[in-house]
Amino acid sequence: MNIEVEPARITFDIHADETIIQAAWRNGYTWPTICGGQGTCKTCVFQILEGFEHLSPVEAWEDTGLRSLADSLPNKGQGYRLACQAKVHADIRLRKIGVRKQHGNS
Ligand code: FES
Repeated sequence: MNIEVEPARITFDIHADETIIQAAWRNGYTWPTICGGQGTCKTCVFQILEGFEHLSPVEAWEDTGLRSLADSLPNKGQGYRLACQAKVHADIRLRKIGVRKQHGNS
């Protein structure tokens, strides 16, 4: 399965048991985070462009985080997920500023 990231036009593979941020790290990409994937900073939030139905259900912890962001996101946060919480079961395309290859050379 693949994750396609706009606007950088990055694509990386993801395993069923990984969160999106874990898959990015495994593939050598940085993803904006402060908490290091603990689900507390909400810096990892991204917008889903395609494949809404391919994402794992929103669990209570993520839901709390997304609700706290709702007022600062377009559409009250509809169509947004946390990369450290969300998993997928098929390809998706998303938008996240700041995803880039580690050590430069993107
Ligand atoms: S990485 Fe901090 S909430 Fe997802």
